[in-house]
Amino acid sequence: MNGLSVALIWLHISGNVVWIGSILAVAAIITAKSVDPKIRGELALRVYSFLSVPAFVLGFVGGTARLLLDPRYYLVEHHWMHGKLLFAITVIGLHHVIGARAKKLARGTVQDSGPTAIMGTILAVSAVVAAFFAIFKLPD
Ligand code: HEM
Repeated sequence: MNGLSVALIWLHISGNVVWIGSILAVAAIITAKSVDPKIRGELALRVYSFLSVPAFVLGFVGGTARLLLDPRYYLVEHHWMHGKLLFAITVIGLHHVIGARAKKLARGTVQDSGPTAIMGTILAVSAVVAAFFAIFKLPD
């Protein structure tokens, strides 16, 4: 693998680590029942805007650029990338729904955390599964 490809994967992983870690923090803040909902929303939105969104952009750009360097390899020769992209779209969806909940709490339009706890749990489990595939190099 050439230097640019390795650098893009490095960027991708760096972005993803901060992205998933921080979106879990957003979920943890949103679900802190003992704190006033509007304050929770404002704190959650701060973590979301300053950490989750920029880290997501970094991870997305790194991963997409790496994919575009070798689209045939990833999309035609090795079909595991289709499953991975489906997984990525799901994670991106959860990221947006959690962020939207933070915005609504901060604006005062809702007071409850909605399905944030279950979404955070799904994200945490997904992060562990993604790390498993990367460490054990599956699929080969
Ligand atoms: C936005 C959509 C995404 C695209 C286009 C993308 C693309 C890529 C590409 C092209 C690679 C290099 C694969 C290789 O050559 O082995 C890669 C590696 C990796 N990606 Fe993504 N990715 C995306 C989302 C995600 C998400 C959401 C996660 C997990 C939270 C993730 C975790 C990883 C990991 C852990 C690796 C390293 C795999 C390894 O080297 O064994 N990616 N990604």
